[in-house]
Amino acid sequence: MESMIRDIKLAPSGHDKIEWVKNFMPVMRAVDEEFSRTKPFAGKKMVITLHLEAKTAYMAEVFMHAGAEVAITGSNPLSTQDDVAAALVEDGVNVFAWHDCTEEEYFKFIDEALKIEPDFIIDDGGDLVHALHTTHRDLLPKIVGGSEETTTGVHRLRGLAQEGKLEFPMIAANDAYMKFLFDNRYGTGQSTWDGIMRTTNLVIAGKTVVIAGYGWCGKGGAMRARGLGANVVITEVDPIKAIEAVFDGFRVMPMDEAAKIGDIFLTLTGDKDVIVKRHFESMKDGAMLANSGHFDCEINIPELESLSKSRRKVRNNIEEFLQKDGRKIYLLAEGRLVNLAAGDGHPAEIMDLSFGVQFFSMMHLLEHGKELKKEVHLMPNEVNVKLAELKLKSLGMAIDTLTPEQRAYLNLE
Ligand code: NAI
Repeated sequence: MESMIRDIKLAPSGHDKIEWVKNFMPVMRAVDEEFSRTKPFAGKKMVITLHLEAKTAYMAEVFMHAGAEVAITGSNPLSTQDDVAAALVEDGVNVFAWHDCTEEEYFKFIDEALKIEPDFIIDDGGDLVHALHTTHRDLLPKIVGGSEETTTGVHRLRGLAQEGKLEFPMIAANDAYMKFLFDNRYGTGQSTWDGIMRTTNLVIAGKTVVIAGYGWCGKGGAMRARGLGANVVITEVDPIKAIEAVFDGFRVMPMDEAAKIGDIFLTLTGDKDVIVKRHFESMKDGAMLANSGHFDCEINIPELESLSKSRRKVRNNIEEFLQKDGRKIYLLAEGRLVNLAAGDGHPAEIMDLSFGVQFFSMMHLLEHGKELKKEVHLMPNEVNVKLAELKLKSLGMAIDTLTPEQRAYLNLE
């Protein structure tokens, strides 16, 4: 296969980035060491669609060392790092991605990667699964199974499964404890603020930060915003999550009210049209908008544009929308995931766990995929425990163990 990347000459800095993250991914290093010897994926082919940066690149290499032939595409046009893509090609992975590709190119890359005819897939957001169930149905019989990285992709998969249209078993990697408790909460929490701060170079303390959605990602975003000294306001549609936010110490109100007082708005819902025309109309001069949900439909950008006198880039990854009354509203990273489009994504120590989940989900499919129903499955819980143990060990930490008497007292087997 002929890879499609921006420029192979960029590879040296890509190799440096991959080497750097490897230092902080001890779980994946342990996996790499064990399975590069046993090569369980020998003769198997895999297509991965994920944010193509250094941590993802290392995971792709781990699968390759474990015997798989891998083809990879990016899962968002702005999160692909061209130097990392080049380094991966030098290392023997088939790569189809470049930064800031058009929508047409994005889907063409998936078509090209699928020419490998995969046995296994890893998806992030559902576009790969969608392509397989529409334009590439001829490939379906060969596919043993796959896994899905994010909440939005899992929603799409469950929809497909409910209609009885899912054609192979999928593991909701996102729904494993060792993924969402850490990646969605602490990973998104930290990397989103990293993306916003490095892009704006402004202070967060004292600002009113409005966070839409108090799910796993929203909780992380709110926790870290508070840590930075912001006054945090939460908007929700789920009354239970709203109460949780109240007892976590945050103010809760509808977006109609929050729109008037926010300095920075951050959407983390997985929903669409969370911030729309009437909200833009009541925002303060200088309000900033960012999204860290999977798709760029949480902030209605066409409506913002239609209200505006002009739209112009004022700084890398920041656009100014000048309103007819002179107010300026700023949009970060085109409303795409700000932590990946304007940053490097989650910290390596966090992705160490998420990609551990991905690796063992694939192992589960390798060993049991043929017996699994064409449904959305959870990763077996023993794997969560195994990953947690590996991570604790790598951190040099030990914990207590139950005595037989305690096990009996707690009615455990
Ligand atoms: P979640 O399902 O735990 O939380 C979403 C929350 O948003 C729910 O509490 C829901 O009630 C609320 N919500 C839905 N519509 C709303 C609306 N119109 N206004 C206010 N609240 C609303 O989902 P999770 O795991 O927090 O993921 C959220 C999004 O972030 C998804 O699109 C997911 O794929 C994405 N994600 C992004 C990551 C990143 O690196 N930026 C990492 C992990 C997930």
